[in-house]
Amino acid sequence: MSASTIVPWVIGNWKMNPTLSSIQEWTEQFGQCLQQAAISEEQCHIAVAPTFIALSKVQADFSLYSRKVHAVAQDVSRFEGTGAFTGEVSATLLKDSQINHVLIGHSERRELLADDTDVLRQKLTNALQTGLTAVFCVGESLEQREQGVAEQVVLQQICDIASVVSDTQWESQIIIAYEPIWAIGTGKTASAQDAQAMHAKIREGLKQLTSSGDKIAILYGGSVKPENAEELATCADINGALVGGASLKADSFYKIAQAFAQAK
Ligand code: 13P
Repeated sequence: MSASTIVPWVIGNWKMNPTLSSIQEWTEQFGQCLQQAAISEEQCHIAVAPTFIALSKVQADFSLYSRKVHAVAQDVSRFEGTGAFTGEVSATLLKDSQINHVLIGHSERRELLADDTDVLRQKLTNALQTGLTAVFCVGESLEQREQGVAEQVVLQQICDIASVVSDTQWESQIIIAYEPIWAIGTGKTASAQDAQAMHAKIREGLKQLTSSGDKIAILYGGSVKPENAEELATCADINGALVGGASLKADSFYKIAQAFAQAK
């Protein structure tokens, strides 16, 4: 397998949105889009990360589709198992609810919710040991990009987790999402060239850490929308997208998935 044969992932990160009634509308509309023009699982993996309280509903709604659409958790506790940890949801409990994927290290959690390197290692360790696949997010700030240290920052974020990921886990349980912070929710996307350049560096870095470096999907995130998805999808090392705002509209999200399905 080479990077160009990786089946892309298009994942919607709904963040602290939407209401249950809007989810109902979304899942109906997305189902209609899939009925009108199917996207096969061989062409593109599709997933959505709702809030914890909506995970079961989304899972139930998606089970009515003719293809798999995964429900992904937006976070996982750094505490494992079950116990007296008010407000927390462990990897064990996610797995128990048939949730198999989780976002870890999103910049909003790093910046606003004190997810530092130690916490992220604990979360990742629990997720991987429980058999979850982690979508591990990395990305530099605008200041770091302007200082010319973007690559260094991103590669360091990946090296930070190397001590808790085994070779087999890299191969089957890790997806990387590169999300430059300055492109998140701002309407500013990294140009396809800049994104590809960073993805190629990430791929090189991964190859130094694991023999599976060529098999790991590297997603781009940051103001992905139908208008820029096609160009991003044609880049050799961009194996999908982590979509925020545009994933809240079923038709926009469908078009992004279609762009990746058709380009790969
Ligand atoms: P936007 O697509 O809204 O920029 O958000 C990206 C993101 O943070 C996905 O995790």
